[in-house]
Amino acid sequence: MIYATEKVDHPGIKGSECGQSNWRMKTRAKHHDIDFSVVPEQDIQPDLDKAIRDILVACFPADRQYYQRQSWWHCAAIYRVLGRDRRGSIIAHAAVVERTVNVGRELSKVRVAGVQSFCVSQDYRGAGLSERMMLRAMTEADERGFDAGLLFCVEALKTVYGRMGWQRIDSDVYMFDKREGKISIASKNITMFYPLGKSQFPPGDIDLAGTDW
Ligand SMILES: CC(C)(COP(=O)(O)OP(=O)(O)OC[C@H]1O[C@@H](n2cnc3c(N)ncnc32)[C@H](O)[C@@H]1OP(=O)(O)O)[C@@H](O)C(=O)NCCC(=O)NCCS
Repeated sequence: MIYATEKVDHPGIKGSECGQSNWRMKTRAKHHDIDFSVVPEQDIQPDLDKAIRDILVACFPADRQYYQRQSWWHCAAIYRVLGRDRRGSIIAHAAVVERTVNVGRELSKVRVAGVQSFCVSQDYRGAGLSERMMLRAMTEADERGFDAGLLFCVEALKTVYGRMGWQRIDSDVYMFDKREGKISIASKNITMFYPLGKSQFPPGDIDLAGTDW
């Protein structure tokens, strides 16, 4: 199988402010030999799924038991971005889900690329790899015609994602829960969007039209 590998030059994502020169400086100095690839979900065979679960268990210890069984959270991905070292071991991971959310009183439809289980292995952190990962994930989303990226994270990560071009959205966000029906997303999380086909996220409440991810 041949997967798309990382583009060398800036992909020209509309509205992106990824701090290119910054991450290039960092990553050239360290971990320049990491290869990033996009893998469609249907190409993930059991051995690759196991390798993905291994990095998720290591990076999200609180969710260890969950990730030992399953490599995706609430909503299945349509593709993953995997970072591999020279030996081919997975050292970074992002899953992208597809969803059309309803926004505001007009229920405007926004097709979002939802980022899930974004992580870099401990030994490789602090070298800007996450920016390269995200750029690859959002370039793919742009090529697939998504309106925007959407993710949920703790407040502490706002600056980290902000450096990658993500912007905080202060709208209320609702999801569907099997037992409770329509509820707010977890209050510990903030919502951030990444401009793709739309340079601004429409104002108003966001209905995820399903679970969160
Ligand atoms: C968040 C994560 C992907 C960043 O990867 P990375 O390749 O180290 O990212 P970068 O090198 O681009 O940036 C590192 C910066 O993020 C900061 N950072 C990492 N985790 C953080 C956290 N939980 N809270 C606040 N800042 C954090 C670091 O302090 C560092 O800041 P600095 O550059 O000002 O020194 C990585 O730390 C990770 O996998 N964490 C565990 C899984 C996780 O929490 N994923 C996010 C899910 S929403």
